[in-house]
Amino acid sequence: MESVTIICRCEDITEDEVRAAIREGLTSLDEVKRILRCGMGHCQGRTCGRLIARLITEEAGVPASEQTWTTYRPPTRPVPLGVLAEGGDAHA
Ligand code: FES
Repeated sequence: MESVTIICRCEDITEDEVRAAIREGLTSLDEVKRILRCGMGHCQGRTCGRLIARLITEEAGVPASEQTWTTYRPPTRPVPLGVLAEGGDAHA
């Protein structure tokens, strides 16, 4: 049985998909993000970012220290509508 390694669990992207994209010419986190949607999930790349950076280093030779997301949005949390309607604190 063939094993599959999931790199981005939010977007269900495998290591093989990321490696193939890098071999086709992607050399940055943002390029991988735009093509495969890695980093666009609920965690916003907190889980997969370093793994993808490592794959880019292995496949394309770009040092991980030179790789960052150019856009970053904090992970979202659901807020009940009642909290918003009452003007309350969603974190209370
Ligand atoms: S694991 Fe990739 S965006 Fe969350």
